[in-house]
Amino acid sequence: MRLVIVGCGGFIGSHLLDRLLQDDTISIDGWDPQTGKIARHLSNPRLRLRRSALTSSRDLADFRRAARTADAVINLAAICNPSEYNLNPIATIHSNFLEPLRIVDICAAQRVWLIHFSTSEVYGRTIASYAGDADYSDPALYELDEDATPLIMGPIRNQRWSYASAKQLMERYIFAQHKQAGLPFTIVRPLNFLGPRMDYIPGYDGQGVPRVLACFMTALLSDQPMRLVDGGTAQRTFVSIYDAVDALERMIRNRDRAANQIFNIGNRHNEVSMRELAELMREAYAACTGDPSYNSHPITFVTSRDFYGEGYEDCDRRMPNVEKAHELLGWRASMPLREMLFETVRHYYFQYRDWPDAPQQARLEDVTGV
Ligand code: UGA
Repeated sequence: MRLVIVGCGGFIGSHLLDRLLQDDTISIDGWDPQTGKIARHLSNPRLRLRRSALTSSRDLADFRRAARTADAVINLAAICNPSEYNLNPIATIHSNFLEPLRIVDICAAQRVWLIHFSTSEVYGRTIASYAGDADYSDPALYELDEDATPLIMGPIRNQRWSYASAKQLMERYIFAQHKQAGLPFTIVRPLNFLGPRMDYIPGYDGQGVPRVLACFMTALLSDQPMRLVDGGTAQRTFVSIYDAVDALERMIRNRDRAANQIFNIGNRHNEVSMRELAELMREAYAACTGDPSYNSHPITFVTSRDFYGEGYEDCDRRMPNVEKAHELLGWRASMPLREMLFETVRHYYFQYRDWPDAPQQARLEDVTGV
């Protein structure tokens, strides 16, 4: 099997390579300017990596050639970090609509199967959040179903939705290409994949505000308080990256069942508020450092305006219906939140424990299997 993976050097791509390259019959044409997370694969002859973001016309011609004979093109490349959505909405829209548009057009022209990574944020806020007092008594008001749930974005001035709107339009464009031009597609809506190598530590191996896992890790590693945005009441369901990669592999190996479908990939049994997440993470950190004082590591509160700037609005709750992935792919997530958090916190700790004192960049390949 020959696959093209755009954005193969990020969090999800690195785990996908770990899994797929174990199979000697799979070869991959990859694109990514960042290679720190996939260092261990760079010498593999079955990975042909271009250290580029697929922006120049030369890159696109090369991509077109590689796509023509591929069994599938997987597009993972995107800005997907909420701190960027309202601070840098133009780049966010470019990255999530205009740049992938070229990939979709090339796949459509050649009728190559495109597996495109979208987001659970296309659902926006739940119906329950608009129904008076956020009434979650009826699952029909909050459960997210790929083919039935309406997609509800906030007002234009709340630029948090720049990302979700770009992703949603891209989904609609892919579907239009399917209907009008015969593009075979699969859309994946990830619901908070979590695991080692997610994001970065700001000022050390990345810049800006990462997602919540890396924010809380940064606080623990640097003895700063963990900060809860707007009271820490927002809820998320986290799914292990290993479970998620299992779902992706099933899609790749079962085109007849995965093609022309949208899939939620999440774990409805791992729902927590951000406050509960902070408490669990400090417990995990106490366990891996052997220092029980971290069990009461300080937690403080911050407004979303102070934390993210003007224009932030949060998704209230993300409870996926994952029956389609079960029925068509035989997939269910299995790793409980506590287990995945304890493992992930350990990885981060061993990867970054010398920070902020160590001047050199953390070497991700050295912590494999921690
Ligand atoms: C992000 C992306 O926008 C989604 O596309 C993506 O699918 C998702 O991550 C994911 O990882 O799958 P979100 O869950 O809002 O969505 O990202 P986070 O930055 O991790 O925020 C989660 C919650 O934690 C939010 O309520 C945020 O306000 C809160 N938070 C974040 C804190 O309370 N403290 C922090 O230090 C950071």
